[in-house]
Amino acid sequence: MTHRKKTTVYITRKLPDAVETRMRELFDAHLNIDDSPRTREQLLQAVATCDVLVPTVTDVVDAGLIEAAGPQLKLIASFSNGTDHIDVDAAARKGITVTNTPNVLTEDTADMTMALILAVPRRLAEGSRILTDPSTDWAGWSPTWMLGRRIWGKRIGIVGMGRIGTAVARRAKAFGLSIHYHNRKRANPQTENELEATYWDSLDQMLARVDIVSVNCPSTPATYHLLSARRLALMQPTSYIVNTSRGGIIDEAALIQYIREGKIAGAGLDVFENEPAVNPKLIKLAEQGKVVLLPHMGSATIEGRIDMGEKVIINIRTYFDGHRPPNRVLP
Ligand code: DGY
Repeated sequence: MTHRKKTTVYITRKLPDAVETRMRELFDAHLNIDDSPRTREQLLQAVATCDVLVPTVTDVVDAGLIEAAGPQLKLIASFSNGTDHIDVDAAARKGITVTNTPNVLTEDTADMTMALILAVPRRLAEGSRILTDPSTDWAGWSPTWMLGRRIWGKRIGIVGMGRIGTAVARRAKAFGLSIHYHNRKRANPQTENELEATYWDSLDQMLARVDIVSVNCPSTPATYHLLSARRLALMQPTSYIVNTSRGGIIDEAALIQYIREGKIAGAGLDVFENEPAVNPKLIKLAEQGKVVLLPHMGSATIEGRIDMGEKVIINIRTYFDGHRPPNRVLP
């Protein structure tokens, strides 16, 4: 009787216990028990010996790392929806397949986007701080106190009407917002009808007309600083911007400047240009109640992380069973 050698799988971060247990059962799994981010040196060692690398958004899987990989590395099965941390072209050149974990994060990320859409104009973080910060003293309700801006009846402009953008649109519609969107490709008539959505071919024109901008497009070289200083300047001074995608899509320095100058009313940011570093000027704006900041937790639910793990496992098993993995990412 012959025994097939177990696939060597190197997982760069701690995953939910249920996922790690399954990984151990199925593979020769190299886990990261203490969850410390892997160094470049550790990643170089890993790609020299493992059959599968399971990175997350915190790992830089660039051309240098991919070129240093041994011939045994066949698959990069990312534990993420986004793949901007992986040089997919370099992987393709080396015949390495790349997969991701789409769909299972859509609704969780849309929920968090909606939470920010509500939190910024309605001053949720500020209100909470008033009760928890010992230096503030709540003297009771007053008619003119803690007034935010109304959300229902306003216009939301969604930048990127993919899965997450569409899920945000459904929620926003239920909250009484009218849906506007910009996307490279127009949504199908059924989706547009269901959402009563207005398509803007011109992002510039949409930005000038909406009250809340939600960034939901993927991060690619083409979307880097899509919300540039010039485009942000088109927004109305009473408008807000929310980003649960990737920090680099917005020119963060320009956004900070415009909020400080009162040219944009505020922002809700779950992602930052130089994560995990957060620009101290943003922290200052958060203290002033002009922005709400979250530490990249848009998709952070227990259920979502387990679903992601299952997708990674299915992608690995399918690949080594000789089939095309369901979530293959093409260059
Ligand atoms: C992803 O997977 O792309 C998210 O941003 C991290 O949860």
